[in-house]
Amino acid sequence: MTIVDACESRTNTTPEFPMGWFSVSRSQELLVGEVQQVQAFDRELVLYRTRSGEAVLQDAYCPHLGANLGVDGRVVGESIRCPFHGWRFGKEGKCEEIPYCEEIPERACIRTWHVQEKNGEIYVWFHPENTGPRWQLPDLPELDDPNWTSPRYAEFLVPAHVQDIAENSCDPVHFQYVHRQPDVPPSQVTIEDNGRILHLHSDASKAEIPSQLHATVYSPGFAIVRNTYGPGAEMVMYNSAQPISRHETKMRWTLTVRREIEDLAGDDVMKGIIDGLSDDYPIWANKVHKRRPVFCKGDETLVLFRQWVRQFYLTENDRRETA
Ligand code: FES
Ligand SMILES: [Fe+2]
Repeated sequence: MTIVDACESRTNTTPEFPMGWFSVSRSQELLVGEVQQVQAFDRELVLYRTRSGEAVLQDAYCPHLGANLGVDGRVVGESIRCPFHGWRFGKEGKCEEIPYCEEIPERACIRTWHVQEKNGEIYVWFHPENTGPRWQLPDLPELDDPNWTSPRYAEFLVPAHVQDIAENSCDPVHFQYVHRQPDVPPSQVTIEDNGRILHLHSDASKAEIPSQLHATVYSPGFAIVRNTYGPGAEMVMYNSAQPISRHETKMRWTLTVRREIEDLAGDDVMKGIIDGLSDDYPIWANKVHKRRPVFCKGDETLVLFRQWVRQFYLTENDRRETA
């Protein structure tokens, strides 16, 4: 009987990018008329804010001779002008002007991505076949609630695939080994009837700062984590991802706490979370993605996560149907 494959030729089987909403910038970081380079989904993109204030995300390489619109491209009204020969592209992607030629070629256009600005961030909808959003971004009511502190921000470049980072929250066992918790916190993973939204409840009453954790995962790379330390002592952390490549992800975290515990929890909690993340780094930086992991009976939450996450990828059948 063969127990181990004779030769596993492709050890790292990192998947493509899942569909969903991903952040590309915080709203306050993109001023009117500003142009930025954005790397996401293994692509080079350009992000800019038009004179009327709209955020636009497009493929960065000019169809003319391939200049990068994100480097010295200029906002002109509601459009962007290429730095190389001055071709100007509108926010729908069509070339609107070639300064030295009357006739504009049919194919002179760039891909425009579906963007929505909400909750202080600029989000892009990603779908491998470029179809429109299948669900809406959730509201984040605490951001405008005077009972909650103004948000604290943190950003991290994580050397891992966006799916593997999301998987971490459904992995209670690693809290004992990687994050030095005294034992494995009792945890439960449930999935809403719609099949898409995943909830993780974790009882961290034995942790250094005892709490009850509830993570709502809307898609890989978008989650809201609520921690309750006692009546009125609550913390909320929004967590959105920008998958740069299949091996690197930028995480944007937004933390707010109830005013009652601001002095106690605000900065310390943020620092604790940042320290916690650095525990995960050596694992993430050196691991491979196992498409078919060997699971044991104690891995129920991980098994559920892997079943849940499949819906965010196209199956072979989907691909055949649209081919
Ligand atoms: S490369 Fe953009 S106008 Fe020529
Ligand atoms: Fe972790």
